[in-house]
Amino acid sequence: MKTIAVLTSGGDAPGMNACIRSVVRGAIYHNLNIYGIIRGYKGVIEGDMIKMESRSVSNIIQQGGTILKSARSDEFRTKIGRQKAYEQMKKHGIEGLVVIGGNGSFTGAEIFYKEYGIPTIGVPGTIDNDLYGTDYTIGFDTAVNTALDAVDKIRDTADSHDRVFFVEVMGRDSGYIAIQTGIGGGAEIVMVPENPDSIEGVIESLRSGRNNQKSSSIVIVAEGEEVGNAHYVAIKAKEKLTNMDIRVTNLGHIQRGGAPTAMDRILGSRLGLAAVEGLIAGRKNEMVGIVDDKVVYTTFQDAINKKKPLNKDLIKMVNILSI
Ligand code: F6P
Repeated sequence: MKTIAVLTSGGDAPGMNACIRSVVRGAIYHNLNIYGIIRGYKGVIEGDMIKMESRSVSNIIQQGGTILKSARSDEFRTKIGRQKAYEQMKKHGIEGLVVIGGNGSFTGAEIFYKEYGIPTIGVPGTIDNDLYGTDYTIGFDTAVNTALDAVDKIRDTADSHDRVFFVEVMGRDSGYIAIQTGIGGGAEIVMVPENPDSIEGVIESLRSGRNNQKSSSIVIVAEGEEVGNAHYVAIKAKEKLTNMDIRVTNLGHIQRGGAPTAMDRILGSRLGLAAVEGLIAGRKNEMVGIVDDKVVYTTFQDAINKKKPLNKDLIKMVNILSI
């Protein structure tokens, strides 16, 4: 193997740049040529790629976002799109690919590998932490800290005005960001899709909190929560809790930006190098992750299809600590 390429795909995540830096410098250290592909699979199809040197990735380890840009490509979902992508890879002599992204990105990588046999290693880069085969995904820790900072601020004003706040956090259909933000932020209730609460139960908890001298409360709602989004739950709560002053905040894409935490920089660096070394060792069609502080490789099939369970003890703990 002489030449490989790296791309970022799907939602960006803080720490992706640390990972790109590691892939590029790891490849150069091992005497490989390395291309950076712009805008994920769209860039492969269009041949939008640049030869990377060590200095191409200087001063990026501390930056959020991705210098390679990211996109979700509909064309890559088609056979014709993937054939164009293969032709571009052949033209550039690319014999291995590192895909930094989430579930959807790995699904594309797996289909592409099956059709054209180009060895691909996936690196889990998503704030959602929803991939089986790694304890943490790149960007999750930063996203939780960003959400936590926002919740701390909301708590100040919630307390001043004796209000209840429903705060919606990201996570697609996974409650990882919600549960960690909820515990770290001392939330009264955390609503996650893995353990759906009834709206009646939430209303009852808020009522009993008020009876128990709680003047303000924070409810964290994971996007994708089965019973509805934060606005919907808040409207339902307002109908019943007419004596409470209720507000809603959706943290949205703020959670995807900002400088990566130390943890995400280190995770990105470790996984990037492990991806390159995996390709050199002949690995393919796998995601590299870290479990119990050790590098492990998991088939794309498992990484995509197996559900990473949310620790139910954490949910229980929120209830115990919010009395
Ligand atoms: O997968 C990362 C993520 O931020 C999810 O938490 C969220 O549901 C989704 O991406 C938002 O995607 P977009 O940026 O396309 O709106």
